Formats: sequence, C-alpha cells, structure tokens
Amino acid sequence: MAAVAWVIVGAPFSGRPTPTTTPVAADTLDGKVLYQAHCASCHGTRGEGQADWKNKKPDGTNPAPPHDPSGHTWHHADGLLFRIVRDGGQAAGGGAGFKSAMPAARDTLSDAQIRATLEYIKTFWGPAERKSQASISAGDPYP
Ligand code: HEC
Repeated sequence: MAAVAWVIVGAPFSGRPTPTTTPVAADTLDGKVLYQAHCASCHGTRGEGQADWKNKKPDGTNPAPPHDPSGHTWHHADGLLFRIVRDGGQAAGGGAGFKSAMPAARDTLSDAQIRATLEYIKTFWGPAERKSQASISAGDPYP
C-alpha cells in the first residue's frame, strides 16, 4: 500500500474526536468493510445488484449483477471469482467485442483483502448455494 487511507464512519469531523468516529485501516481484512467501501456502490449494499441487470446498457456493458442467490456469482468457483475481482471483468471475461464495466481491484486491494471480500459475499447465500459453490471450488480454488 503506497498510502494509508481511512474510511471514517460516523459524523463529520467537528473539531475533536467523537466516539462515533471509527477509523478503519486501509489494510483491514474485514470483508464487510471492504465490500461496503469498494463494491456496494455497484453491486448493492446487500448484493442485490443493479436494476434490470440481465439487459445490456446502451454502452454495451452489462449492469452489475447481484451477488445474492438470485444472481449467478454462486455458480462460479473461488478461483474464477478471485480472477474477476483482481484482474477485472475485461481480462477475466472474454472474447472479441466483450466490454466489461467491472474494474480490476489489483491496485486497490491485496490478495488477502480480495479473498476476505469474496468470503463476505458468501454471507448473502443460503446453505444450498454455499454447498454447491464449495464443491465447484474444489476444482478451481483461490490462488
Ligand atoms: C463500477 C462498478 C463496479 C464495482 C465498483 C465493482 N463491480 Fe463487480 N461487476 C461489475 C459489473 C458491471 C459486472 C458484470 C461483469 C461483466 O460484464 O464483465 C461485475 C461482475 C462481478 C463479478 C462476477 C459476478 C458473477 O455473478 O459472475 C464479481 C464476483 C464481482 N463483480 C465482484 C466485485 C467485487 C468483490 C467488487 C469490490 C471489490 C466489485 N465487484 C466492484 C461492476 C462493478
């Protein structure tokens, strides 16, 4: 990490620290904090995704899909999910003419932070999704 960034939760700084101001270190491994800071703006605070996510936008990109059981994130192995997040949708997706709006997290998050964020996404799933995804991941685990 080149710089230390802080996510300040609570009231704006008002001259002296208040108990509601909780600084969160940039190297946190708290998947919930990471997800809400880096992913929720597109994928939704509860992983609900963007509206009408099955239809392409006018610019040819897909909207951000949900991560909850209504989407297909749980159909993918840990290794593939990791590559999508680290390298971005353009690199991980494929084919000529494919345009992805999913940014690469490589320069923002460490490998451990990416794993922590993906583990948090799994809390949106039920036991059936978790079980199925765990068995798919056996063939393509996290790096
Ligand atoms: C600027 C909006 C944006 C942000 C921020 C973003 N994503 Fe995405 N994400 C997308 C889009 C759009 C797609 C659809 C992929 C495509 O078309 O390539 C996607 C796809 C994905 C997928 C594949 C999902 C699936 O069901 O196949 C995963 C996993 C994912 N994102 C995780 C994350 C994580 C984790 C973060 C935070 C570190 C994040 N995304 C941040 C827009 C975003």
